[in-house]
Amino acid sequence: MARILITSALPYINGIKHLGNLVGSQLPSDVFARYCRARGDEVMYICATDEHGTPAEIAAAKAGKPVAQYCAEMHEVQADLARGFRLSFDYFGRSSSARNRAITQHLAGRLADNGLIEEVSEKQVYSRADGRFLPDRYIEGTCPNCGYDSARGDQCENCTKQLDPTDLIDPRSAISGSTDLEVRETRHLFLRQSKMRDRLNAWIDQKSDWPILTTSIARKWLNDGDGLQDRGITRDLDWGVPVKRGDRDWPGMEGKVFYVWFDAPIEYIGATAEWADANGLDDSAWERWWRTDKGAEDVRYVQFMGKDNVPFHTLSFPATIMGSNEPWKLVDYIKSFNYLNYDGGQFSTSKGRGVFMDQALDILPSDYWRWWLLSHVPENSDSEFTWENFQASINKDLADVLGNFVSRVTKFCRARFGEAVPEGGGYGPAEAAVIAEISRRVAAYEGHMAAIEIRKATAELRAIWVVGNEYLQTAAPWAVFKSDPEAAGAIVRFALNLIRLYAVLSEPFIPDASATILSALHLQSAEWPDDVEAALSTLPAGHAFDVPEVLFAKITDDARTEMQARFAGTQTAKA
Ligand code: MF3
Ligand code: ZN
Repeated sequence: MARILITSALPYINGIKHLGNLVGSQLPSDVFARYCRARGDEVMYICATDEHGTPAEIAAAKAGKPVAQYCAEMHEVQADLARGFRLSFDYFGRSSSARNRAITQHLAGRLADNGLIEEVSEKQVYSRADGRFLPDRYIEGTCPNCGYDSARGDQCENCTKQLDPTDLIDPRSAISGSTDLEVRETRHLFLRQSKMRDRLNAWIDQKSDWPILTTSIARKWLNDGDGLQDRGITRDLDWGVPVKRGDRDWPGMEGKVFYVWFDAPIEYIGATAEWADANGLDDSAWERWWRTDKGAEDVRYVQFMGKDNVPFHTLSFPATIMGSNEPWKLVDYIKSFNYLNYDGGQFSTSKGRGVFMDQALDILPSDYWRWWLLSHVPENSDSEFTWENFQASINKDLADVLGNFVSRVTKFCRARFGEAVPEGGGYGPAEAAVIAEISRRVAAYEGHMAAIEIRKATAELRAIWVVGNEYLQTAAPWAVFKSDPEAAGAIVRFALNLIRLYAVLSEPFIPDASATILSALHLQSAEWPDDVEAALSTLPAGHAFDVPEVLFAKITDDARTEMQARFAGTQTAKA
């Protein structure tokens, strides 16, 4: 039994996420976690809300709430939506937790002890109109690297370059739009990442199996000279992890907090500690996932994230971990994703463009969204959501192929044999051919899942469903029944066993449909089909079942047009 630690990039607290956010880390990590569990691995699957920084402060101000209260409420909203999408986190934590605060302060103290933190007098952008310093994200301007005109002070969304606010050309306040900005002196802590270049380079060099998207971004910023610039890790804000050196005060840093990107990834660890606390376990329970001196040496750690998060996870966070010189678990594999676009443009939270998680669940059950998003996950290039494509995939894959198979087989059986697996007859060459083909395809599916090639896995799964439909079409039990009811019974028995197999194989992608099928088959749970032939003889003659409700309703043209109109253009910004 392998031990797998899985983390999804932490969604910002400042609003409900859109489907582009969901497909970029939470959803694929959930599929992988479910798959690993189904295969019998011991899994720790962690996510949390990313609650610090200016975005949280500003969103709270907009909502007219104290920031702590705003974050507590939004955390519940996001946790609820995560449940709605069946995201199976072992724990969904909060980066504002006491655990994260303590671990963040501890790591900063270690970095300082190891000579990796420098105090510098920094010039920072101050907005007179807003009466405050404008850190990172709240300054917008033109990217000095690629010329994109809405680059943020921390990073250019267009070319992924990490930036400092003072790098921007023609900067303006993202809060007020004011260009009345001035540069003022303030003291800050800098992480001397540049001293880590050789260690980071040697580490990335070992990762030849990583997705090219991940290593190309990492190498670009490692080697282009300034990707590993020393970076400020403190901010003049009220909301965040107070700057401390372990549990001691840090002279000169009073009233400052750590930069949100410093404490956010540390919350992967913090949330695992929160999990232990919530379950009444002691520190050894979470340390065996994170400390290689306390059991984590045999853990495989896989991270999921959108491509804009890659620099922070391949450079900054490993620099923090390595620089501590403590035996923390480093990531073993980083799966990163391109962007999902929406109907000819980008999803946009600020512009309210696209479909947001709450709206999606109001329209259709989560399995519909999960299937479409996962079968179109932007793995090798950006992909695009269109309503036509969504309608076509749902109607074809889920309704016509899987849903129809389940419905035809169970209904035919009920009509001719009653609601129990028929007896008599035996399996012949047609069944042997199906077993051979599905065995081959299950092996391919497992290979894709092990490699976290989500799209290829969905294609294989769909092909496995198609095999059943084709079998049923050719075997035609309704025709055979007239002359040879026993032979028809054997076909139906085989097909009912296929349905059970599909429920097991499909669970990582469409867990609700899988549960519906299993319960219709009067099964509590189902083992992974290590041997397809044996798996297809599991349901014995006489085993009772119910015809399940319609698994997937088709999306009509009218419904599609209506949704298309409702989600066209810009909606009110989601705060
Ligand atoms: N909140 C960040 C984003 O949405 C991701 C943070 S991932 C972390 O881009 F783990 F580093 F927190
Ligand atoms: Zn750029």
